[in-house]
Amino acid sequence: MIYLKTPDEIEKVRGACRLASLALGEVAKAVLPGTPTHRLDTIAREYIVNNGGRPACLGYGGFPATVCIEVNEVVVHGIPDNYTLREGDIVGVDIVAELDGYNGDMCYTFPVGKVSDDVMALLRTTKESLYQGIEACREGHRLGDVCNAVQTYCEKRGYTVVREMCGHGIGRKMHEDPEIPNYGRRGTGPLLRNGMCLCIEPMINMGSRNIAIEPDGWTCRTRDRKPSAHFEHTVAIIDGKTEILTSFDPIEQVLGDRKV
Ligand code: MF3
Ligand code: CO
Repeated sequence: MIYLKTPDEIEKVRGACRLASLALGEVAKAVLPGTPTHRLDTIAREYIVNNGGRPACLGYGGFPATVCIEVNEVVVHGIPDNYTLREGDIVGVDIVAELDGYNGDMCYTFPVGKVSDDVMALLRTTKESLYQGIEACREGHRLGDVCNAVQTYCEKRGYTVVREMCGHGIGRKMHEDPEIPNYGRRGTGPLLRNGMCLCIEPMINMGSRNIAIEPDGWTCRTRDRKPSAHFEHTVAIIDGKTEILTSFDPIEQVLGDRKV
């Protein structure tokens, strides 16, 4: 069941998205060689709490942190720990902030220092595929148009799409219907309508699409241990127009010419 939101509710989702975006802007300042990933988690948690929000991932299904940390071959749901970032790594930071009862969800995969051209191309393609998906996410289109846009953009460029993990609706709950896979057929699935709030989040691999879950029950990595990239925005369809509620601007202002 897909909950359509009123304009007032969408404004609350927008507020949560703004908080998530600003928190990742703070995190971006610390994404440097030598930073332990638990430091990124602390920065995110303190920013959210100090600004009246709640770190929605913390305790969700038992997840022990504010952000998911996705270093190199980690696809999603990595747990922040003592690992220290190294030049040439990539690190996805996935965050959900709750504010005034509504959630905002986003993810950015950062290059740490200088990364190889191959890996930078993976990051760029994944980020571009997110915007391709958003472009296809319009009132009157079908969800499959979004899924297909992401898939074809990435596969044409030689990358693979993770099948087991999906985007989702969002609102009072972090995960609402519909599920939004990053693959699918045009013209299929639910009609996209005013009032929908959706998280589009391509998870794209350099090697094979296959994944494995680590014994911690959370960390999802590529089976071949080749790199994986992940970008996510929360969007809403309002008055026939799709608006991106989260923003990479705070992050990219910090990164300058190191942005993806
Ligand atoms: N932000 C993730 C998503 O895009 C959810 C994190 S899972 C959690 O759906 F359990 F850690 F919260
Ligand atoms: Co999400």
